Amino acid sequence: MKPDRRPHILLNYAMSLDGKISTEHRDPVLFTSKIDRGLMDEIRADVDAVLIGAGTLRAEEPPVRIRSARRRDERVRTGKSPHPVSVILSRTMLLPVEGRYWKDDKVERIIATTNQAPDERILPFKAKAEVIRSGRYAVDLGELCRLLYDRGISRLLVEGGGEVNMAFWEAGLVDEVYLTLCPVVIGGRNAPTAADGTGFTVDCIRKLRLIESRRVGQELFLRYRMVRTRS
Ligand SMILES: NC(=O)c1ccc[n+]([C@@H]2O[C@H](COP(=O)([O-])OP(=O)(O)OC[C@H]3O[C@@H](n4cnc5c(N)ncnc54)[C@H](OP(=O)(O)O)[C@@H]3O)[C@@H](O)[C@H]2O)c1
Repeated sequence: MKPDRRPHILLNYAMSLDGKISTEHRDPVLFTSKIDRGLMDEIRADVDAVLIGAGTLRAEEPPVRIRSARRRDERVRTGKSPHPVSVILSRTMLLPVEGRYWKDDKVERIIATTNQAPDERILPFKAKAEVIRSGRYAVDLGELCRLLYDRGISRLLVEGGGEVNMAFWEAGLVDEVYLTLCPVVIGGRNAPTAADGTGFTVDCIRKLRLIESRRVGQELFLRYRMVRTRS
């Protein structure tokens, strides 16, 4: 049984051989195969909500939806919405008001921001998404996860980018990782990695167990589970 009232949390990302998830210019991710995109759809279809950071929204405007009609139908058959809830994390609320992310009106959207976010920046999104406020300088991720859980979100997929992934690692809110290792090198000290921010000291390094590995074509699909240490 989980010690906390929170969803089971999965991280999913595709990474280059040198640990990068994009270029230093934050170009949209174009180094993955069709197989990886299919797996992403499969993982999304098995969760209640998908969370991304405002950096990823600004860089890619990714439509967070289930592409496969078969998977959407299967979700509906089991009493779920066709698409998972899409959650955006932002302090500044400097988000695109238009664009392809907002196109599908069947997607339920939540923006999680701080108590300090200015009302005038929230206003343009009121008709497009529910806005949840929590925390002063940053959204309190523990509180946000509790709120999501109380709304019936029992599986949450975090799809980056690097800053958001690290925030979840720091908060101790990762249970599983899906990693696609792609045979490319991106380089650049300012290119985002799979976990940015300040990083852990050696005594706090997170440990995981490899529970699945599969090679398809030139990519490796790896799945890890968090090792919990009892305190
Ligand atoms: N290869 C992959 O699988 C993959 C997956 C996802 C993303 N990416 C790439 O990753 C890059 C983006 O990564 P990134 O690190 O620059 O940005 P990011 O992690 O997507 O977003 C960072 C932003 O999230 C908000 N944020 C983070 N923690 C917060 C908290 N606790 N409370 C409130 N807001 C919080 C802030 O938004 P505000 O600035 O609005 O305050 C912050 O600037 C893009 O290039 C994208 O294409 C790659």
